[in-house]
Amino acid sequence: MVQGSALLLESRLSPMWMDFLRRAGGIAQGRGEALYLVGGVVRDLLLGRGIVDLDLVVEGDAIALARRLAQELAGKARTHPRFGTAKVEMAGWSADLASARSETYAHPGALPQVTPASIAEDLARRDFTVNAMAICLEPAHFGQLLDIHGGFPDLKARLIRILHPGSFMDDATRILRALRYEQRLDFQLESETEALMRWQTKMLDTISGDRLRHELELIFQEEYPEKVLARAEKLGVLAAISSGLRGDGWLTEALRCARRLGEPRGSTLELCFLLLAYPLGEAQVESFIRRLHFPAQVSRNLRALSRLKALLPSLAAPDMSPVRIYHHLHPFSPLTLRAVSLALGPGMPKGCIDLYLDRLRSLSPFLDGDDLRRMGVSPGPRLGRMLRALLEAKLEGKVSSREEEQALVKEWLEKGASGGAAPGRGGKPASR
Ligand code: CTP
Repeated sequence: MVQGSALLLESRLSPMWMDFLRRAGGIAQGRGEALYLVGGVVRDLLLGRGIVDLDLVVEGDAIALARRLAQELAGKARTHPRFGTAKVEMAGWSADLASARSETYAHPGALPQVTPASIAEDLARRDFTVNAMAICLEPAHFGQLLDIHGGFPDLKARLIRILHPGSFMDDATRILRALRYEQRLDFQLESETEALMRWQTKMLDTISGDRLRHELELIFQEEYPEKVLARAEKLGVLAAISSGLRGDGWLTEALRCARRLGEPRGSTLELCFLLLAYPLGEAQVESFIRRLHFPAQVSRNLRALSRLKALLPSLAAPDMSPVRIYHHLHPFSPLTLRAVSLALGPGMPKGCIDLYLDRLRSLSPFLDGDDLRRMGVSPGPRLGRMLRALLEAKLEGKVSSREEEQALVKEWLEKGASGGAAPGRGGKPASR
């Protein structure tokens, strides 16, 4: 045990959290159980980084203890008996609670089999030394650091180190986790850890598509995902996930811009996947989709990416009118278009896509079907053609008000009556 982190806790945690931790440690002791702060929160406390939530492990029954804490501290316990975990919810914040456990893996990539265990065994099952420390909350030893695996020296040396050579085999998601922490904390992979990682990137094949996708999503949610991806490319990790993936320069800029767009969280993640897939050929996109087991909607957008890339030369033609741009790009989802726009350098095809996204896409005629019926157009294909022709007139800037649209429709109706070429007489909307 390393002494003396009680003061550290006092200096880093709010009085409200300190009060909770002291009382929780006392209540656990009253039940004959030892309670610890563990994992990322200990790492971040020692690094002086901000703490967002409290992770606690008890040598005992986490669910029973959570209920008791909730009762005594006027909180609420949410329990997950299947996982032996619970959340104690207080006013505006919460603490996660788990029973100390050991884990064994039936085969590489299997989900672990879990058995109740001591805190020492619980720490031994963890991914990296810096994540395998605990702070004791028992009243007599409150604040003492339990550092069995040398996490504290590794924090000082700024190293990400696995606990044992089989770690990546047990759980290959740790390959991506290691890179995520390395770049987030500005650490280095310890040399043996790096060598094992390079050697064992194939172990990623043991991870299901859903888990792998989740790990990539966690990377995209980091402050600088591009750094993690660049490192993953260098170490052969991206290629081991799916062939053709790259984490180089252009992606850096594209991801930065994607984040600045401030799309809703789910869309930003999807945009990141589209950008990652941008350099892939059609066959590579198919294996990427299979490997990461994307939901149908995302798969559709990923496939559309190749079709849109194939259209780029025609979008760069000098005679692209707004109407032609509209008809070329209308079949694509805004997210696919945004991804391609972000991937392209300044210039013409990008200009067309941006024009469509920022202006043309949201244009629609002032008049609708009811208005046209009131003006004497009978329901049917002709009415549809007129609405399309109105939209095109608006795209071309020929009309910009309701009155101008009404005048145009009247003109078409008169021409139609006198046999002229209007949309109602087979006069098609402008060419695509
Ligand atoms: N853990 C692990 N192996 C994994 C996932 C998690 O050993 N594959 C352990 C680590 O000790 C980690 C803890 O479980 O610290 C909690 O996991 P998680 O919430 O993913 O990480 P945090 O350390 O809390 O990190 P973050 O700051 O990203 O939330």
